[in-house]
Amino acid sequence: MNTTVDAKEGESILDVAVANDIPLQHACGGFCACTTCHVIVKDGDKFLSAPEEDEEERLDRATGVTLKSRLGCQAKIMGDVTVEIQNEGFGH
Ligand code: FES
Repeated sequence: MNTTVDAKEGESILDVAVANDIPLQHACGGFCACTTCHVIVKDGDKFLSAPEEDEEERLDRATGVTLKSRLGCQAKIMGDVTVEIQNEGFGH
């Protein structure tokens, strides 16, 4: 989307997207129980919290998963990161 927004340290990618009207889906409400918040990290992955086992298991079931995939509701931001949203416009 080529949008840049500010985030506070420790906020999740989903928190920041919601706060800035960026259409990142979150069917389960951010509880690591769906994959609609799937994003691909383009840059700054070292500034994201490490994925927990739950997130990795959930991501295994997402479509289009890459080694740089994260769940937006689980990845906490700790610096400058660039991500690409995977499910833009996908239902709720
Ligand atoms: S919002 Fe459902 S897993 Fe992130």
